[in-house]
Amino acid sequence: MRIEDPKIVAALPELGVELRPGSSLAELTSLAIGGTTDLLRIRKHEAIPELLKLLDANCVPHKFLGGGSNLLVKDGELPWVVLQLVAPGPDVVLDGNFAHVDAAADLGRTVTYCAKNDLGGMEGLIGVPGTVGGALRMNAGAYGMQIGTYVREVKLYRAAERKIETLSGDQISFEYRHTSFAPNDMMLAVTLELPSKSFKEILQGIRICNEKRRSSQPLGQKSAGCIFKNPPGASAGHMIDELGLKGLSVGDARVSDRHANFFVNAGQATAKDMHSLIADVKERVHKAFGMELENEVVFWSA
Ligand code: EPU
Repeated sequence: MRIEDPKIVAALPELGVELRPGSSLAELTSLAIGGTTDLLRIRKHEAIPELLKLLDANCVPHKFLGGGSNLLVKDGELPWVVLQLVAPGPDVVLDGNFAHVDAAADLGRTVTYCAKNDLGGMEGLIGVPGTVGGALRMNAGAYGMQIGTYVREVKLYRAAERKIETLSGDQISFEYRHTSFAPNDMMLAVTLELPSKSFKEILQGIRICNEKRRSSQPLGQKSAGCIFKNPPGASAGHMIDELGLKGLSVGDARVSDRHANFFVNAGQATAKDMHSLIADVKERVHKAFGMELENEVVFWSA
């Protein structure tokens, strides 16, 4: 979708918003799949209510993009514009055991920065790609920890109320790869309370997690992490592997040879290829195990 109305184009810089016309979502997502649209890069949180008022008044549909690491975007010219926060920097401010982090901050860099300041707890998240906002929205976790445990406050744009609000951690529910945020809420900043640990001890934990990840996941390949959530008491990767589906392909969309719950873009995969592969694997798992796999990856299809 292209913003052509000169009224809107002229208003954007006044709101501190940069317009990048015809951006490719394939370049903004870890799966490297997705069509093109106008990208609006937001520098000031305060401008968001005004920006959305402007877009809504002019019937410009939009979606919020985080780090693009858990996302499957449709092909072709996209029927909405994409909004993305730009970290205003500094994106992490420490105050005792509290880390105030901008949602646009890179997750790995945030974990490292906190570690260097003797704040731990998030060792498992070191190799998870994406932004802190994206991790927060889906309650990202690995190796026995999840980010929600450490959340004390969240600043977000509440789409339903059209305003910026601050929620305390106990107003938010964090479950396995799920939170109580509305789908169109936009994460802006978070305060984490992290346990004190020596950098040496944190580094040791990070090394162990990195080693486990390297030995079991296709890190160098284009993927969105795990495609499916694990059903209670079961492992999606284990079931898919047991069915002998590693290497199964539709076009260049392929079930990873390394970890069966990672589907990789082995070249020029399209969203259509990836959707067909996901549907096929889902059906086979359902037939064999009677289990309905739930997507972890978010679809931007409509
Ligand atoms: N397994 C297989 N074959 C495979 C993959 C896994 O047999 O191809 C078996 C493993 O041997 C193991 C079991 O399945 O016995 C579980 O595998 P793994 O330890 O790799 O964990 P997972 O449940 O597949 C989860 C998260 C990962 C996270 C790891 C480590 C989900 C959906 N996935 O994977 O998170 O990194 O644990 O904590 O919860 C993500 O969410 O995108 C993600 C990568």
